[in-house]
Amino acid sequence: MDLKLRPATMEDLPLLVRHRRAMFEEMGFAATRDLDEHDQAFAVWAEQMMATGRLVAFVAQFGDRPGASCCLWLREQQPKPGLGQAHAPYLMSMFTDPPFRRRGAAGALAAAALQWAGERGFAQVTLHASTAAVGLYERLGFARTWEMRRNLLDEGPEA
Ligand SMILES: CC(C)(COP(=O)(O)OP(=O)(O)OC[C@H]1O[C@@H](n2cnc3c(N)ncnc32)[C@H](O)[C@@H]1OP(=O)(O)O)[C@@H](O)C(=O)NCCC(=O)NCCS
Repeated sequence: MDLKLRPATMEDLPLLVRHRRAMFEEMGFAATRDLDEHDQAFAVWAEQMMATGRLVAFVAQFGDRPGASCCLWLREQQPKPGLGQAHAPYLMSMFTDPPFRRRGAAGALAAAALQWAGERGFAQVTLHASTAAVGLYERLGFARTWEMRRNLLDEGPEA
């Protein structure tokens, strides 16, 4: 079955919510956090962001089955030397349904997101990688940065 990428539309919102939830479940978040609540909050947020052009998403189709997706969020950016734009692309919600894994979908989606951002003059794309995805991002040229974080709660989230 051929892999084809397409831009997501509002009709894909339930798919994007499902894939994001499945991503968090697989990363172990379900044990400690309320994913039902998150699904609802994300759906509302993503709809608003897509409506204003601040969130674009890509879907990998395997025939008539949407097997993988990712989102690129144009998040607000404080003024920084060399980064003239007010928004910076952040790659998120990468997920491939298990039957479609290891067929290049996530790599192709990330490459499409990089191309989309590059064509629009953005200087960088950032992301937070799961352990499973580090290799594929490194192959696309992503490198670790110096972000630091300190949790303020005794049982703060790991990611
Ligand atoms: C991580 C994840 C997105 C990868 O999705 P995927 O579509 O299988 O990714 P790809 O097929 O592009 O690449 C996966 C691996 O298959 C390999 N591969 C790609 N095409 C292949 C092919 N035709 N034949 C064999 N292997 C192939 C890649 O080299 C890569 O190898 P690696 O594991 O050594 O890095 C998927 O496993 C997933 O959804 N995991 C759970 C959620 C998650 O961690 N999301 C990422 C959040 S940052």
